[in-house]
Amino acid sequence: MSRIVVVSNRVSSVATGTPAAGGLAVAVVDALQGDRGLWVGWNGEVRNTERACEVEESHCGAMSTLAWPLSSQSYAGFYRGFANEVVWPVFHGRTDRMRFRTEHFSAYLHVNQMFASHLAEHVQPDDVIWVHDYHFMHLASYCRDLGLNNQIGFFLHIPFPEPENLKAIPVHNSIVKALFKYDLIGFQTEKDQHALQSYIQTDRSEHTAFGQDPVAHQSPKMGVYPIGIDCNQTLSQVQNSQKSSLSEESVGQCGETKTIISVDRLDYTKGLLERLESYDQFLSSNSDWQGRVSLMQISPISRSDVLGYEEIRREVERLVARVNGTWGTPGWVPVNYMNRSFERAALLGLLRASHVGLVTSLCDGMNLVAKEYVMVQEASDPGVLVLSEFAGAANELDVGAILINPYDTVATAQAIHRALTMPLDERKERYSAMLDVLRQNDLLAWKNNFLYDLYACGAQVIHE
Ligand code: G6P
Repeated sequence: MSRIVVVSNRVSSVATGTPAAGGLAVAVVDALQGDRGLWVGWNGEVRNTERACEVEESHCGAMSTLAWPLSSQSYAGFYRGFANEVVWPVFHGRTDRMRFRTEHFSAYLHVNQMFASHLAEHVQPDDVIWVHDYHFMHLASYCRDLGLNNQIGFFLHIPFPEPENLKAIPVHNSIVKALFKYDLIGFQTEKDQHALQSYIQTDRSEHTAFGQDPVAHQSPKMGVYPIGIDCNQTLSQVQNSQKSSLSEESVGQCGETKTIISVDRLDYTKGLLERLESYDQFLSSNSDWQGRVSLMQISPISRSDVLGYEEIRREVERLVARVNGTWGTPGWVPVNYMNRSFERAALLGLLRASHVGLVTSLCDGMNLVAKEYVMVQEASDPGVLVLSEFAGAANELDVGAILINPYDTVATAQAIHRALTMPLDERKERYSAMLDVLRQNDLLAWKNNFLYDLYACGAQVIHE
Protein backbone atom coordinates (compact mmCIF):
# COMPACT_ATOMS: atom_id res chain seq x y z
CA MET A 1 0.00 0.00 0.00
CA SER A 2 1.29 3.41 -0.98
CA ARG A 3 2.70 5.52 1.85
CA ILE A 4 3.39 9.24 2.17
CA VAL A 5 7.04 9.95 2.75
CA VAL A 6 7.57 13.44 4.13
CA VAL A 7 10.90 15.25 4.09
CA SER A 8 11.51 18.42 6.06
CA ASN A 9 14.63 19.89 7.57
CA ARG A 10 13.23 19.59 11.07
CA VAL A 11 11.29 16.54 12.14
CA SER A 12 8.61 17.31 14.72
CA SER A 13 9.62 17.62 18.33
CA VAL A 14 6.93 15.06 19.13
CA ALA A 15 9.13 12.48 17.47
CA THR A 16 12.62 13.62 18.33
CA GLY A 17 12.22 15.23 21.73
CA THR A 18 13.89 18.43 20.43
CA PRO A 19 12.07 21.75 20.95
CA ALA A 20 9.50 22.77 18.32
CA ALA A 21 10.88 25.15 15.72
CA GLY A 22 8.42 27.27 13.78
CA GLY A 23 4.99 26.46 12.47
CA LEU A 24 6.11 24.06 9.75
CA ALA A 25 6.84 21.01 11.90
CA VAL A 26 3.69 21.57 13.97
CA ALA A 27 1.58 21.88 10.83
CA VAL A 28 3.06 18.78 9.24
CA VAL A 29 2.56 16.68 12.34
CA ASP A 30 -1.06 17.85 12.63
CA ALA A 31 -1.71 17.28 8.93
CA LEU A 32 -0.37 13.75 8.87
CA GLN A 33 -1.97 12.45 12.02
CA GLY A 34 -3.40 9.06 11.32
CA ASP A 35 -1.55 8.64 8.02
CA ARG A 36 0.68 5.66 7.61
CA GLY A 37 4.01 6.84 6.37
CA LEU A 38 7.53 7.93 6.96
CA TRP A 39 8.91 11.32 7.95
CA VAL A 40 12.59 12.02 7.46
CA GLY A 41 14.74 14.95 8.47
CA TRP A 42 17.42 16.45 10.70
CA ASN A 43 17.14 15.73 14.42
CA GLY A 44 18.57 19.14 15.32
CA GLU A 45 21.92 17.80 16.56
CA VAL A 46 25.36 18.73 15.22
CA ARG A 47 28.19 16.15 15.40
CA ASN A 48 31.76 16.01 14.18
CA THR A 49 31.01 13.49 11.45
CA GLU A 50 28.06 12.15 9.50
CA ARG A 51 27.63 8.42 9.97
CA ALA A 52 24.83 6.35 8.52
CA CYS A 53 24.56 4.43 11.82
CA GLU A 54 23.36 7.57 13.54
CA VAL A 55 19.93 7.41 11.92
CA GLU A 56 17.36 7.28 14.73
CA GLU A 57 14.00 5.68 14.16
CA SER A 58 10.95 6.59 16.22
CA HIS A 59 7.20 6.93 15.92
CA CYS A 60 4.91 9.88 15.72
CA GLY A 61 1.29 8.67 15.65
CA ALA A 62 0.96 6.22 12.77
CA MET A 63 4.06 7.66 11.13
CA SER A 64 7.56 6.36 11.56
CA THR A 65 10.26 8.96 11.64
CA LEU A 66 13.89 8.75 10.64
CA ALA A 67 16.11 11.56 11.82
CA TRP A 68 19.85 12.06 11.93
CA PRO A 69 22.39 14.65 13.01
CA LEU A 70 24.29 16.95 10.65
CA SER A 71 28.05 17.20 10.70
CA SER A 72 29.42 20.56 11.82
CA GLN A 73 30.55 21.13 8.24
CA SER A 74 27.09 20.46 6.82
CA TYR A 75 25.49 22.58 9.50
CA ALA A 76 27.75 25.52 8.68
CA GLY A 77 27.50 25.25 4.90
CA PHE A 78 24.04 23.82 4.26
CA TYR A 79 21.91 25.15 7.12
CA ARG A 80 23.60 28.31 8.31
CA GLY A 81 25.32 29.19 5.04
CA PHE A 82 23.30 28.51 1.90
CA ALA A 83 19.82 27.90 3.35
CA ASN A 84 19.78 30.75 5.84
CA GLU A 85 22.30 33.29 4.55
CA VAL A 86 21.34 33.00 0.87
CA VAL A 87 17.95 31.43 0.22
CA TRP A 88 16.09 32.77 3.26
CA PRO A 89 17.09 36.44 2.81
CA VAL A 90 16.76 36.48 -0.98
CA PHE A 91 13.41 34.69 -1.00
CA HIS A 92 12.20 37.29 1.52
CA GLY A 93 13.33 40.17 -0.67
CA ARG A 94 16.52 40.89 1.34
CA THR A 95 19.25 40.45 -1.26
CA ASP A 96 21.28 42.95 0.78
CA ARG A 97 21.60 40.30 3.50
CA MET A 98 22.78 37.55 1.16
CA ARG A 99 26.29 36.14 1.80
CA PHE A 100 26.97 33.71 -1.03
CA ARG A 101 29.94 31.32 -0.83
CA THR A 102 30.56 28.54 -3.32
CA GLU A 103 31.56 26.09 -0.59
CA HIS A 104 28.26 26.68 1.19
CA PHE A 105 26.37 25.84 -1.97
CA SER A 106 28.48 22.66 -2.30
CA ALA A 107 27.50 21.72 1.26
CA TYR A 108 23.84 22.37 0.38
CA LEU A 109 24.13 20.00 -2.58
CA HIS A 110 25.95 17.45 -0.44
CA VAL A 111 23.17 17.39 2.18
CA ASN A 112 20.48 17.15 -0.50
CA GLN A 113 22.41 14.23 -2.00
CA MET A 114 22.78 12.57 1.40
CA PHE A 115 19.03 12.88 2.03
CA ALA A 116 18.38 11.35 -1.39
CA SER A 117 20.58 8.35 -0.51
CA HIS A 118 18.70 7.83 2.75
CA LEU A 119 15.42 8.04 0.85
CA ALA A 120 16.62 5.55 -1.75
CA GLU A 121 17.23 3.05 1.05
CA HIS A 122 13.85 3.47 2.66
CA VAL A 123 11.18 4.28 0.07
CA GLN A 124 9.12 1.73 -1.77
CA PRO A 125 8.25 2.12 -5.46
CA ASP A 126 4.64 3.16 -4.85
CA ASP A 127 5.37 5.68 -2.08
CA VAL A 128 4.77 9.35 -2.84
CA ILE A 129 7.39 11.75 -1.54
CA TRP A 130 6.37 15.18 -0.22
CA VAL A 131 9.31 17.51 0.31
CA HIS A 132 8.93 20.64 2.43
CA ASP A 133 10.66 23.97 2.11
CA TYR A 134 13.72 25.74 0.84
CA HIS A 135 16.32 23.45 2.36
CA PHE A 136 15.66 20.77 -0.25
CA MET A 137 15.22 22.36 -3.65
CA HIS A 138 17.74 19.90 -5.18
CA LEU A 139 16.42 16.77 -3.52
CA ALA A 140 14.25 15.46 -6.38
CA SER A 141 17.14 15.93 -8.77
CA TYR A 142 19.39 13.63 -6.69
CA CYS A 143 16.54 11.16 -6.19
CA ARG A 144 16.14 10.93 -9.99
CA ASP A 145 19.90 10.37 -10.33
CA LEU A 146 19.53 7.41 -7.99
CA GLY A 147 16.77 5.99 -10.13
CA LEU A 148 13.78 6.85 -7.92
CA ASN A 149 10.70 7.10 -10.11
CA ASN A 150 8.27 7.96 -7.33
CA GLN A 151 6.03 10.97 -7.58
CA ILE A 152 7.84 13.73 -5.76
CA GLY A 153 6.14 16.97 -4.75
CA PHE A 154 7.69 20.11 -3.29
CA PHE A 155 5.90 22.65 -1.12
CA LEU A 156 7.54 26.00 -0.49
CA HIS A 157 6.46 27.44 2.86
CA ILE A 158 8.20 30.77 2.27
CA PRO A 159 7.67 33.30 -0.56
CA PHE A 160 9.23 32.80 -3.99
CA PRO A 161 11.27 35.82 -5.12
CA GLU A 162 10.69 37.99 -8.15
CA PRO A 163 13.10 37.11 -11.01
CA GLU A 164 15.37 40.11 -10.42
CA ASN A 165 15.90 39.04 -6.81
CA LEU A 166 16.32 35.36 -7.63
CA LYS A 167 18.95 36.25 -10.20
CA ALA A 168 21.05 37.80 -7.45
CA ILE A 169 21.86 34.25 -6.32
CA PRO A 170 24.76 33.21 -8.53
CA VAL A 171 23.39 29.65 -8.79
CA HIS A 172 19.81 30.63 -9.64
CA ASN A 173 19.91 28.49 -12.80
CA SER A 174 20.80 25.44 -10.80
CA ILE A 175 17.94 26.09 -8.36
CA VAL A 176 15.31 26.38 -11.07
CA LYS A 177 16.64 23.42 -13.04
CA ALA A 178 16.53 21.33 -9.86
CA LEU A 179 12.95 22.40 -9.12
CA PHE A 180 11.99 21.12 -12.57
CA LYS A 181 12.75 17.59 -11.37
CA TYR A 182 9.74 17.68 -9.08
CA ASP A 183 6.38 16.49 -10.38
CA LEU A 184 4.49 19.21 -8.53
CA ILE A 185 5.58 22.49 -6.97
CA GLY A 186 3.21 24.03 -4.43
CA PHE A 187 3.18 27.67 -3.33
CA GLN A 188 1.41 29.61 -0.59
CA THR A 189 0.09 32.35 -2.92
CA GLU A 190 -0.58 33.16 -6.58
CA LYS A 191 2.12 35.81 -6.39
CA ASP A 192 4.77 33.19 -5.53
CA GLN A 193 3.72 30.93 -8.37
CA HIS A 194 3.67 33.85 -10.77
CA ALA A 195 7.21 34.81 -9.73
CA LEU A 196 8.59 31.41 -10.77
CA GLN A 197 6.55 31.45 -13.98
CA SER A 198 7.89 34.84 -14.95
CA TYR A 199 11.48 33.71 -14.27
CA ILE A 200 10.89 30.76 -16.59
CA GLN A 201 9.37 32.95 -19.28
CA THR A 202 12.22 35.43 -19.23
CA ASP A 203 14.69 32.62 -19.20
CA ARG A 204 13.14 30.87 -22.17
CA SER A 205 13.22 34.00 -24.26
CA GLU A 206 16.81 34.74 -23.28
CA HIS A 207 18.01 31.10 -23.27
CA THR A 208 20.10 31.76 -20.20
CA ALA A 209 19.49 29.00 -17.67
CA PHE A 210 18.50 26.15 -19.91
CA GLY A 211 19.87 27.16 -23.27
CA GLN A 212 18.37 24.67 -25.74
CA ASP A 213 17.89 22.07 -22.99
CA PRO A 214 14.61 20.27 -23.74
CA VAL A 215 13.85 20.06 -20.03
CA ALA A 216 13.00 23.73 -20.26
CA HIS A 217 9.95 22.74 -22.25
CA GLN A 218 8.60 20.38 -19.63
CA SER A 219 7.68 22.62 -16.74
CA PRO A 220 6.50 20.72 -13.70
CA LYS A 221 2.93 21.18 -12.61
CA MET A 222 2.51 24.08 -10.22
CA GLY A 223 -0.29 25.03 -7.88
CA VAL A 224 -1.31 27.31 -5.03
CA TYR A 225 -2.09 25.58 -1.74
CA PRO A 226 -2.33 28.08 1.13
CA ILE A 227 -1.54 26.25 4.35
CA GLY A 228 -4.27 26.30 6.98
CA ILE A 229 -4.70 25.20 10.56
CA ASP A 230 -6.46 22.25 12.15
CA CYS A 231 -9.42 24.21 13.51
CA ASN A 232 -10.89 21.61 15.84
CA GLN A 233 -7.56 20.59 17.27
CA THR A 234 -6.60 24.21 17.87
CA LEU A 235 -9.87 24.76 19.72
CA SER A 236 -9.44 21.67 21.84
CA GLN A 237 -5.90 22.74 22.73
CA VAL A 238 -7.07 26.16 23.80
CA GLN A 239 -9.68 24.52 26.05
CA ASN A 240 -6.79 22.77 27.82
CA SER A 241 -5.04 26.08 28.31
CA GLN A 242 -8.03 27.37 30.20
CA LYS A 243 -7.29 24.81 32.86
CA SER A 244 -4.04 26.65 33.48
CA SER A 245 -4.26 30.13 34.93
CA LEU A 246 -1.33 31.43 32.83
CA SER A 247 -3.45 33.52 30.47
CA GLU A 248 -5.55 35.13 33.22
CA GLU A 249 -2.45 35.82 35.26
CA SER A 250 -0.62 37.42 32.38
CA VAL A 251 -3.23 39.16 30.27
CA GLY A 252 -5.33 42.03 31.43
CA GLN A 253 -4.74 41.34 35.11
CA CYS A 254 -5.65 44.87 36.08
CA GLY A 255 -9.23 44.99 34.78
CA GLU A 256 -9.03 47.92 32.39
CA THR A 257 -5.69 47.09 30.74
CA LYS A 258 -5.91 45.78 27.20
CA THR A 259 -3.32 43.51 25.63
CA ILE A 260 -1.91 43.53 22.12
CA ILE A 261 -0.08 40.30 21.33
CA SER A 262 2.62 39.50 18.78
CA VAL A 263 4.30 36.11 18.49
CA ASP A 264 7.13 35.44 16.08
CA ARG A 265 10.63 34.00 15.89
CA LEU A 266 13.18 36.77 16.35
CA ASP A 267 13.73 37.26 12.62
CA TYR A 268 14.42 40.33 10.49
CA THR A 269 11.53 39.45 8.16
CA LYS A 270 8.91 39.85 10.89
CA GLY A 271 8.94 43.65 11.07
CA LEU A 272 9.68 43.75 14.80
CA LEU A 273 11.35 47.15 14.64
CA GLU A 274 8.56 48.64 12.54
CA ARG A 275 6.04 47.20 15.02
CA LEU A 276 7.76 48.76 18.01
CA GLU A 277 8.05 52.10 16.20
CA SER A 278 4.32 51.99 15.43
CA TYR A 279 3.45 51.15 19.02
CA ASP A 280 5.65 54.01 20.18
CA GLN A 281 3.82 56.28 17.74
CA PHE A 282 0.48 55.00 19.03
CA LEU A 283 1.39 55.79 22.65
CA SER A 284 2.71 59.18 21.67
CA SER A 285 -0.43 60.22 19.80
CA ASN A 286 -2.94 58.61 22.20
CA SER A 287 -1.97 59.71 25.69
CA ASP A 288 -5.32 58.45 27.04
CA TRP A 289 -4.11 54.90 26.32
CA GLN A 290 -0.91 55.25 28.31
CA GLY A 291 -1.15 52.93 31.31
CA ARG A 292 -4.17 51.12 29.81
CA VAL A 293 -2.57 48.94 27.17
CA SER A 294 0.44 46.69 26.92
CA LEU A 295 2.20 44.98 24.03
CA MET A 296 3.04 41.35 24.79
CA GLN A 297 5.91 40.54 22.44
CA ILE A 298 6.83 36.84 22.45
CA SER A 299 9.94 36.29 20.33
CA PRO A 300 11.82 33.03 20.81
CA ILE A 301 15.47 33.39 19.81
CA SER A 302 16.10 31.99 16.36
CA ARG A 303 19.20 31.09 14.29
CA SER A 304 21.39 33.07 16.66
CA ASP A 305 24.56 32.03 14.83
CA VAL A 306 23.24 33.10 11.41
CA LEU A 307 24.38 36.44 10.08
CA GLY A 308 22.03 39.28 10.95
CA TYR A 309 20.12 37.60 13.77
CA GLU A 310 22.25 38.88 16.65
CA GLU A 311 21.99 42.33 15.15
CA ILE A 312 18.18 42.26 14.96
CA ARG A 313 18.07 40.98 18.54
CA ARG A 314 20.19 43.88 19.77
CA GLU A 315 18.09 46.39 17.84
CA VAL A 316 14.83 44.97 19.19
CA GLU A 317 16.19 45.05 22.75
CA ARG A 318 17.30 48.65 22.30
CA LEU A 319 13.90 49.68 20.99
CA VAL A 320 11.98 47.82 23.71
CA ALA A 321 14.14 49.59 26.28
CA ARG A 322 13.50 52.93 24.59
CA VAL A 323 9.71 52.49 24.52
CA ASN A 324 9.60 51.26 28.12
CA GLY A 325 12.01 53.98 29.22
CA THR A 326 10.01 56.71 27.49
CA TRP A 327 6.47 55.79 28.52
CA GLY A 328 6.71 53.39 31.48
CA THR A 329 5.57 54.28 34.99
CA PRO A 330 6.16 52.51 38.33
CA GLY A 331 2.95 50.54 37.84
CA TRP A 332 2.98 50.01 34.08
CA VAL A 333 5.38 48.37 31.61
CA PRO A 334 4.33 49.26 28.02
CA VAL A 335 6.14 46.32 26.32
CA ASN A 336 6.25 42.91 27.92
CA TYR A 337 9.09 41.31 25.94
CA MET A 338 9.89 37.60 26.20
CA ASN A 339 12.40 35.42 24.41
CA ARG A 340 11.18 32.15 25.87
CA SER A 341 8.91 29.78 23.99
CA PHE A 342 5.69 28.47 25.48
CA GLU A 343 3.83 25.18 25.34
CA ARG A 344 1.38 25.32 22.46
CA ALA A 345 -1.73 25.22 24.66
CA ALA A 346 -0.41 28.03 26.86
CA LEU A 347 0.43 30.14 23.83
CA LEU A 348 -3.03 29.65 22.36
CA GLY A 349 -4.46 30.70 25.73
CA LEU A 350 -2.46 33.93 25.60
CA LEU A 351 -3.67 34.60 22.05
CA ARG A 352 -7.25 34.07 23.11
CA ALA A 353 -6.99 36.39 26.08
CA SER A 354 -5.47 39.26 24.05
CA HIS A 355 -7.62 42.03 22.63
CA VAL A 356 -5.55 42.63 19.50
CA GLY A 357 -3.34 40.29 17.46
CA LEU A 358 -0.63 42.30 15.71
CA VAL A 359 1.29 40.82 12.75
CA THR A 360 3.69 43.17 10.98
CA SER A 361 5.75 40.86 8.73
CA LEU A 362 7.66 42.65 5.99
CA CYS A 363 7.50 39.50 3.87
CA ASP A 364 5.99 36.19 5.02
CA GLY A 365 4.98 32.95 3.30
CA MET A 366 1.76 32.57 5.30
CA ASN A 367 1.95 33.40 9.05
CA LEU A 368 0.00 30.74 10.89
CA VAL A 369 -0.06 32.77 14.13
CA ALA A 370 -2.49 35.17 12.42
CA LYS A 371 -4.79 32.24 11.68
CA GLU A 372 -4.43 30.79 15.17
CA TYR A 373 -5.19 34.16 16.74
CA VAL A 374 -8.54 34.32 14.95
CA MET A 375 -9.37 30.67 15.55
CA VAL A 376 -9.06 30.84 19.33
CA GLN A 377 -11.09 34.01 19.88
CA GLU A 378 -14.16 33.94 22.10
CA ALA A 379 -17.17 34.14 19.71
CA SER A 380 -19.12 36.39 22.07
CA ASP A 381 -16.26 38.88 22.52
CA PRO A 382 -13.62 38.40 19.82
CA GLY A 383 -10.38 40.34 19.53
CA VAL A 384 -9.24 42.12 16.36
CA LEU A 385 -6.48 41.02 14.00
CA VAL A 386 -4.19 43.74 12.61
CA LEU A 387 -2.34 42.07 9.76
CA SER A 388 0.46 43.03 7.41
CA GLU A 389 -0.58 43.07 3.77
CA PHE A 390 2.79 41.37 3.07
CA ALA A 391 1.91 38.15 4.92
CA GLY A 392 0.47 35.33 2.79
CA ALA A 393 -2.42 35.12 5.28
CA ALA A 394 -3.64 38.54 4.11
CA ASN A 395 -4.91 36.94 0.88
CA GLU A 396 -7.49 35.04 2.90
CA LEU A 397 -8.01 37.06 6.08
CA ASP A 398 -8.58 40.37 4.30
CA VAL A 399 -12.29 39.61 4.82
CA GLY A 400 -12.00 40.60 8.48
CA ALA A 401 -8.53 41.74 9.50
CA ILE A 402 -7.42 45.37 9.50
CA LEU A 403 -4.71 45.27 6.85
CA ILE A 404 -1.65 47.44 7.30
CA ASN A 405 1.54 48.38 5.52
CA PRO A 406 4.05 47.80 8.35
CA TYR A 407 6.45 50.39 6.92
CA ASP A 408 3.76 53.05 7.48
CA THR A 409 4.14 53.56 11.21
CA VAL A 410 1.53 56.32 11.45
CA ALA A 411 -1.14 54.26 9.67
CA THR A 412 -0.24 51.19 11.76
CA ALA A 413 -0.58 53.26 14.95
CA GLN A 414 -4.03 54.35 13.74
CA ALA A 415 -4.93 50.72 12.98
CA ILE A 416 -3.95 49.76 16.55
CA HIS A 417 -6.22 52.49 17.87
CA ARG A 418 -9.07 51.37 15.64
CA ALA A 419 -8.64 47.76 16.78
CA LEU A 420 -8.62 48.68 20.47
CA THR A 421 -11.78 50.78 20.16
CA MET A 422 -13.76 48.69 17.68
CA PRO A 423 -17.41 48.14 18.67
CA LEU A 424 -18.46 44.59 19.56
CA ASP A 425 -20.80 44.15 16.56
CA GLU A 426 -18.07 44.98 14.09
CA ARG A 427 -15.59 42.69 15.87
CA LYS A 428 -18.07 39.81 15.72
CA GLU A 429 -18.78 40.40 12.04
CA ARG A 430 -15.10 40.44 11.12
CA TYR A 431 -14.34 37.41 13.27
CA SER A 432 -17.10 35.34 11.76
CA ALA A 433 -16.06 36.21 8.17
CA MET A 434 -12.50 35.08 8.95
CA LEU A 435 -13.68 31.97 10.76
CA ASP A 436 -15.56 30.82 7.64
CA VAL A 437 -12.37 31.13 5.60
CA LEU A 438 -10.30 29.25 8.21
CA ARG A 439 -12.78 26.39 8.26
CA GLN A 440 -12.95 26.20 4.49
CA ASN A 441 -9.19 26.36 3.87
CA ASP A 442 -8.09 24.29 6.81
CA LEU A 443 -5.05 22.07 7.21
CA LEU A 444 -6.82 19.01 5.87
CA ALA A 445 -7.86 20.88 2.71
CA TRP A 446 -4.23 21.95 2.22
CA LYS A 447 -2.95 18.39 2.54
CA ASN A 448 -5.70 16.80 0.49
CA ASN A 449 -5.51 19.32 -2.35
CA PHE A 450 -1.74 19.01 -2.62
CA LEU A 451 -1.67 15.22 -2.43
CA TYR A 452 -4.60 14.85 -4.81
CA ASP A 453 -2.72 16.85 -7.43
CA LEU A 454 0.52 15.01 -6.70
CA TYR A 455 -1.08 11.59 -7.13
CA ALA A 456 -2.84 12.79 -10.26
CA CYS A 457 0.05 14.43 -12.04
CA GLY A 458 2.97 12.07 -11.79
CA ALA A 459 1.50 8.65 -12.38
CA GLN A 460 2.51 8.27 -16.00
CA VAL A 461 5.77 10.14 -15.91
CA ILE A 462 8.93 8.04 -16.27
CA HIS A 463 12.02 9.99 -15.23
CA GLU A 464 15.16 9.29 -17.21
C1 G6P B 1 10.32 28.88 8.93
C2 G6P B 1 10.70 27.94 7.81
C3 G6P B 1 10.78 26.51 8.30
C4 G6P B 1 11.69 26.43 9.52
C5 G6P B 1 11.21 27.38 10.60
C6 G6P B 1 12.14 27.41 11.81
O1 G6P B 1 9.00 28.67 9.31
O2 G6P B 1 9.77 28.05 6.74
O3 G6P B 1 11.27 25.67 7.28
O4 G6P B 1 11.75 25.11 10.03
O5 G6P B 1 11.17 28.70 10.06
O6 G6P B 1 13.44 27.77 11.43
P1 G6P B 1 14.71 26.90 11.79
O7 G6P B 1 15.82 27.48 11.00
O8 G6P B 1 14.86 27.03 13.26
O9 G6P B 1 14.38 25.48 11.39
